[in-house]
Amino acid sequence: MQWIIKYLTSSIGKKQIMGCSGAFLALFILVHMCGNLQLLNFDQSAAQASYNAYTEFLTSFNPLHFPVKLIYLMELGMVAAFGLHIGLGVLLKLENKKARGAVGYEVNARKGNKSFATFTMIWTGLIILGFGIQHLANLKFGAHYLYQNAAGEIVRDMWLTTIDMFANPVWTVFYLVAMLVIGIHLFHAISSAFQTLGLAHQKWTPVIEVIGIAYSIVIAIGFAVEAAFSCYIAHQPETEALRAKSHELQQQLEQKKAAPEAKTSFVVPSVGIISTNV
Ligand code: HEM
Repeated sequence: MQWIIKYLTSSIGKKQIMGCSGAFLALFILVHMCGNLQLLNFDQSAAQASYNAYTEFLTSFNPLHFPVKLIYLMELGMVAAFGLHIGLGVLLKLENKKARGAVGYEVNARKGNKSFATFTMIWTGLIILGFGIQHLANLKFGAHYLYQNAAGEIVRDMWLTTIDMFANPVWTVFYLVAMLVIGIHLFHAISSAFQTLGLAHQKWTPVIEVIGIAYSIVIAIGFAVEAAFSCYIAHQPETEALRAKSHELQQQLEQKKAAPEAKTSFVVPSVGIISTNV
């Protein structure tokens, strides 16, 4: 037990936990960016259908019928990873600052070798935290629209919530700047995590550095394109018309959801049982 405490309170232990939690978050944002590619569709109603099907799948996925949906476990893991990553990052920064006080000259002299990304890690990290709070407040806990899919089910219209936010150019510009910051953070984070986890190698380290750079560019550009495209789609006449009548449509869907029409079944000899709404 004592070795765990020793490990968790050591500088290398904290850095390794930061590396693991950071790797988990970096994988999550790659999957998230790929899933959001469904926003990139000039056919507004097809984008709405596929994006809503995707978010509905994510939120209801539970193939083994666990008492708890998988999304909740994933969210718990993410909160833990974010908490550890940010908490330990701030702690290490404060410890470093304290150590610098004692041997100020020696530690400051090393600053010259640091890249811009390394030097700004704590600040880019804190900006990402601010972005994350805005992101969840506006999308996850933001305007709640309903949508009736092709199967007649009424689900959350995550597409409309997303497009609604990007219709505001201020949020779009905020996202573009935030993606630049995320790119800068990841730029250094990936190769640094490999080093901290002891995976440095004369031959492979330069390759890992290139992969890290490519990864951060793909993530930042991928999300930035999704944000800019969503802003463009939000201002197309069909989307504006849909948003204009969304209030009325929402009332209808809410009524429908509250009082689903009774279903009746009848038999067509050559086809079998057919269900219909009456
Ligand atoms: C164009 C950029 C982005 C778009 C359009 C977007 C879209 C969304 C949407 C629609 C949700 C809500 C999903 C749901 O509740 O069903 C969401 C959740 C989330 N997003 Fe993003 N996102 C973007 C960028 C990012 C970035 C850069 C990060 C990370 C730094 C991020 C992290 C998250 C997290 C942690 C959640 C909560 C997931 C959950 O609780 O299930 N997103 N995003």
